[in-house]
Amino acid sequence: VDAVVVKLGGSVITDKSSPFKYRGEVVTSLARAMVSSSQKMVLVHGGGSFGHPVATTYGLSSSPSRATPDGVSRTREAMFKLNRLVCQSLSSVGLYAYTFSPFTLVQKAGMSASSWIKKIIDAGLTPVTFGDIVIEGDGFKVLSGDTISYELCRILKAKRCVFVLDVDGVYNNYGRLIREITRSSLNLKFKRADDATGGMRLKLIEALKIASLGTQVALVSGFKIHEFSKALQGREFHGTIVRNSAQ
Ligand SMILES: Nc1ncnc2c1ncn2[C@@H]1O[C@H](COP(=O)(O)OP(=O)(O)O)[C@@H](O)[C@H]1O
Ligand SMILES: [Mg+2]
Repeated sequence: VDAVVVKLGGSVITDKSSPFKYRGEVVTSLARAMVSSSQKMVLVHGGGSFGHPVATTYGLSSSPSRATPDGVSRTREAMFKLNRLVCQSLSSVGLYAYTFSPFTLVQKAGMSASSWIKKIIDAGLTPVTFGDIVIEGDGFKVLSGDTISYELCRILKAKRCVFVLDVDGVYNNYGRLIREITRSSLNLKFKRADDATGGMRLKLIEALKIASLGTQVALVSGFKIHEFSKALQGREFHGTIVRNSAQ
């Protein structure tokens, strides 16, 4: 599928410093840029100040734990709430979402996940999914939107993946933007993420996996719409690209 996987970071679509604070204007302007890019897209969004605080309260993280039913249920409720807001912003500017559970990627009715997604795109819709709580072993864990983005890129053989963030990209230990990262960048010091998943470090691990699929990977600020548009179209932009270290 000739599609771009766009991960709308929870850090940009919400204000992570304030519980349940959605950034509607930001999502609307990102959506406008996506509409005018006329790219085929699959969207994934993070949990930001909806999913992460609830997950953390109930001890849910990216490693499996014995979660209580209220924790699982309330975290998912927060995510679905955020998804509704995101979809409303998207449709307000003519980007029509088809929300699906990441589970759909494994439980598909007689159709491969990629042809299922392709049919939705061909119908003029934009598939949208988000981080979720899933069963693993005897417990539950947070399945990060970054990991889902990798799965989507793999299944779709996506040409490009754009991670939209609240920062310009990846900074080195002196606070300078790194324009191009490779595997060795995992040795950087990352601020401990106030996040139920792995923050920037997990994102980079997934981004490197995506790059090794042969997919172009960009990290860009969602507050700089012009740079986001360029990244979406595969043009040069201010931000970080991830180089396929297998090359
Ligand atoms: N070296 C780094 N370069 C850039 N951002 C970093 C770095 N270390 C930590 N961060 C933090 O990672 C955050 C992005 O990760 P995260 O909060 O998980 O984003 P998202 O919600 O989009 O997944 C940034 O807001 C930044 O504060
Ligand atoms: Mg994150």
